[in-house]
Amino acid sequence: MKKLIAGNWKMNGNAAEAAALIEAVEGRIAKDMDILDKCDFVVCPPFVHLGLVKPKLENVSMGGQNCSQRGNGAFTGDISAAMLKDIGARYVILGHSERRQYHKEKDETIALKAQAANAEGLITIICVGETEEEREAGKQNEIVAAQLEKSLPDGVSEENTVIAYEPVWAIGTGKTATPDDIRAMHEFIRGNLMAKYDDGEKIRILYGGSVKPSNAGEIFAVPHVNGALIGGASLKADDFMGIAAAA
Ligand code: PGA
Repeated sequence: MKKLIAGNWKMNGNAAEAAALIEAVEGRIAKDMDILDKCDFVVCPPFVHLGLVKPKLENVSMGGQNCSQRGNGAFTGDISAAMLKDIGARYVILGHSERRQYHKEKDETIALKAQAANAEGLITIICVGETEEEREAGKQNEIVAAQLEKSLPDGVSEENTVIAYEPVWAIGTGKTATPDDIRAMHEFIRGNLMAKYDDGEKIRILYGGSVKPSNAGEIFAVPHVNGALIGGASLKADDFMGIAAAA
């Protein structure tokens, strides 16, 4: 399975920086096209930068960082899956822990968003992961199992869904889960997907949380790590491509 190298730009940068970043990433890939045999690439800029990133894409796909569960209509401030599709997005990140935390997004809402996204033909990157407290209490499997159970919509397949395991305590903190922690959780998620879906063995499972060029090699060596969801390090083309090189 090719690794999916996904950049989550979060709420960062201005238009000029977004343009420079995608140009740098595309430029690096153009110089080493063999990397496309090993990796697929997606970047998820802030909504307002999607339109300027799109015409610069050559070998990289684009995704949104969220979408509404509703169709177009009177929902001030929201962005529909149809709008993402229309502007050229192929993916959408859903249920990121920052949205669960700051916007109180519930699993059930995430499932509705995923359904809306899949209906538009978007591939969802659905994020799951436990907090530090939950891990200390040994509840990580229980938490992740419940998130998978409730935040995945009907009709999940390898074609329309990617799972991202992101332990909340490892996001933006510089703390990474150990390869053993990652192995245990990715095996657990794989087992869960295989029990539920015919093609559960082929659904990509990304790891996310302080992935950088220096730790990417050992993370990608873990079985059932099919790529990475990268925040901070996706904002520098060198780091983003350094992570891909480790794959
Ligand atoms: P990080 O973020 O790489 O900055 O830890 C990952 C994410 O939130 O997707």
